[in-house]
Amino acid sequence: MMKGSKAGQWALGIAVAAACTAALAQPKGGTDFGKREYESNCAACHGVDGKGNGPYNELLKRPASDLTTLARRNNGVFPIQRVYDVIDGGGTGHGTRDMPVWGREYRVRAGEHYMDTPYDPEVYVRTRILSLVDYLNRLQAW
Ligand code: HEC
Repeated sequence: MMKGSKAGQWALGIAVAAACTAALAQPKGGTDFGKREYESNCAACHGVDGKGNGPYNELLKRPASDLTTLARRNNGVFPIQRVYDVIDGGGTGHGTRDMPVWGREYRVRAGEHYMDTPYDPEVYVRTRILSLVDYLNRLQAW
């Protein structure tokens, strides 16, 4: 009896682990990819609503920017290329930055994600940065 229930627990554990792996490997069609990336990587500093009020802010030398006013501060035009470069980290190279260099971070993650499968890290990085740029564009307060 004891043995049986132990085995049952194991089977359940394995089923749950398998379900989680499947969920990771295949995000559901309706998932907002940019929103998900934003909430797991950016909201800690920039806030869930993008207004720069994330919980990490008190640890930063400079507060994280309000990302809902990018367009307003640029004469009403969302500055796609500049935002892309800031996220990638290649655009602003000087001084100490509190803003992490996501291009490098995503390149590392691409390696962990694909392991031995041949892949193009630039495609992985670009897809993520572009989905973030798209999400930020949708956050703009006009
Ligand atoms: C550890 C805190 C932190 C995290 C996490 C973070 N940022 Fe930032 N971000 C900052 C800070 C601080 C600034 C202000 C400028 C600087 O220090 O470089 C900034 C600036 C920016 C800017 C430029 C805003 C402007 O007004 O020009 C953009 C765009 C941006 N972040 C997007 C993102 C995105 C997208 C993510 C997630 C992939 C992210 N940030 C994650 C701290 C962070």
